[in-house]
Amino acid sequence: MEESKKTLYSAIQPTNNLTIGNYLGAIKNWVALQNDYNCFYAVANMHAITVRQNPAELRQRTLSLAALFIACGVDPDKCALYVQSNVSAHAELCWVLNTFTHVGEMERMTQFKDKSLKHADNINMGLMDYPVLMAADILLYQASVVPIGKDQTQHLEIARDIAQRFNNAYTPTFTVPQGVYLKAAANICDLLNPAKKMSKSAENANGSIFLSDDRDTIIRKFKRAVTDSEACVKYDPENKPGVSNLLSIYSVFTDKSIAEAEAEFAGKGYGDFKLAVGEAVADKLAPIQAEQAKLLADKSYLEGVLKSGAERAAHTANKTVNKVYKKIGFYQL
Ligand code: TYM
Repeated sequence: MEESKKTLYSAIQPTNNLTIGNYLGAIKNWVALQNDYNCFYAVANMHAITVRQNPAELRQRTLSLAALFIACGVDPDKCALYVQSNVSAHAELCWVLNTFTHVGEMERMTQFKDKSLKHADNINMGLMDYPVLMAADILLYQASVVPIGKDQTQHLEIARDIAQRFNNAYTPTFTVPQGVYLKAAANICDLLNPAKKMSKSAENANGSIFLSDDRDTIIRKFKRAVTDSEACVKYDPENKPGVSNLLSIYSVFTDKSIAEAEAEFAGKGYGDFKLAVGEAVADKLAPIQAEQAKLLADKSYLEGVLKSGAERAAHTANKTVNKVYKKIGFYQL
């Protein structure tokens, strides 16, 4: 890793099937930025257990997500690609940062409130502490940039607050991170309800395009996407949220600007437009799916990547933990 480059950190939970929201909002940007920063990319399995998981599935999804990152273009030679639980510093720093976080601010987190409603039978401490673990993830690596979707903004703000609080209490210790968003893709919406974000755990799977969906499923789901009665392909998120969401998806998948996409569909009906969006997405996902399957068949390669990724990550993360332990007065041998 080059010392002169700034550091970038991001992670994704190995829960359910990833959607094109995860791909466009996060992974696509990871790949675009990997040459410009020292990158750390994690499979956030410690975050995943805040909701009860089936152990065998969690193990399988962890490996599968790592394979997906590589299949999408994350280069393990350029980035440290690792599994969060393989670097013990995450839990260690999280504990210290808990003592710099107020219960009230955690209770006010939108995601905590949403998940508490959804998992009312298991509102565990980890669910509430989730943003502190995420702060630890980022601050361990002194990351200055964090590519995420808009739904993670509140968590990033808390990470910034915690960093500043610690820096003010002692001496500057943590880099205060900034969120970076891929503009057109920071908030990909549900195809059937464009007022909601596209989610891995949506009640109706027809509103989400999963990265594992086959061509026919993708095209069928786009055909059913909610639009409006105007029959005009124009970007206007306020008045035409469905069409605007489809334009965003098309634009980011084809690397065309919104204006180019609008021009392409001028005078055409929604039927043609939706089919073109579906085909563009299916064309892009097919080679990613094939590559992911190939990688998953070579478990020893994947394990090698994750082992060296964890070693690289631990090297940096342990330095931060040592620094923090010294500052707070932990007796060191
Ligand atoms: P997760 O696993 O829910 O989602 C992974 C990434 O995908 C983005 N995303 C979206 N972007 C655009 N449109 C959407 N519809 C959409 N849905 C999801 C998310 O914003 C996220 O960037 N807490 C994080 C994982 C995490 C993390 C971190 C992220 C753990 N530690 C440290 C950054 C830094 C999460 O649950 O993301």
